[in-house]
Amino acid sequence: MPFPAVRTVGNCLDRGGGQSVCIAHGNTEIVPYKARFVRCRSREWYGFPSFPVCRMWNEAVNYREQPKQRKTAVNCLDIIYCFYPEDTPLRRLLLRHSEQVRDKAFAILRDSAAGNGLAVDARLVFDGAMLHDIGILKCHAPEILCEGTEPYIRHGVIGAEMLREYGRKHGLDLEACARICERHTGAGIAAEEVRNRRLPIPVRDYLPESPEEKLVCLADKFYSKSGAMKEKSISRIRQSMSKFGADSVTRLEEMCRMFGIMDTEK
Ligand SMILES: [Fe+2]
Repeated sequence: MPFPAVRTVGNCLDRGGGQSVCIAHGNTEIVPYKARFVRCRSREWYGFPSFPVCRMWNEAVNYREQPKQRKTAVNCLDIIYCFYPEDTPLRRLLLRHSEQVRDKAFAILRDSAAGNGLAVDARLVFDGAMLHDIGILKCHAPEILCEGTEPYIRHGVIGAEMLREYGRKHGLDLEACARICERHTGAGIAAEEVRNRRLPIPVRDYLPESPEEKLVCLADKFYSKSGAMKEKSISRIRQSMSKFGADSVTRLEEMCRMFGIMDTEK
């Protein structure tokens, strides 16, 4: 029986095995050297570790080299469905966008030629991408179906609070995901920018710091939640960042460099 058309990230290591993340379920698995396929814990087939060998990615996902592994498993869909219990157009929009950002983040990692030995927690990238916009529910942005009352710029800090609250209730450590929420807006926001632009969020830095925070922030810039939701070019992203000043563009370019993204249209 042919395997269903599915995607994996990660691949075999010439040093013997790597970690693969199931795009459908978020489960992580160790992939043995030259493995032909992997099965995630959902018991559904999810693909082949058949991407060309990418040194950076392999290093990033090698368990033995992971500097930190969160001890608590997070089920992103449980969390999303808790705050968005109905199958509404908004929930569908959120899921579609979050999946786009998640897939882009892993595509960036997979394609990155940086090979600079960045250690990235693949599971955190997965969870952070899926949860980064959870706060839009409470914001006012009718063009993207958000019927809340809060200014849209607050969706990151609101989402972070929602995750911290959920974590407290369910005994989960969601702090790393909460930080991804807070720090993904634009190319991050500095305290000085909050002050100068009089943004309705507490005055402090919201700058992505960890590789996972930077990766989700960057991947998010490729997709908006309005219109056709098609992938944007990097030059278009730079153009929209320039509205927020030179610092935003600089931060965007730093993240692009970090993950080996070139602007061919520059
Ligand atoms: Fe987003």
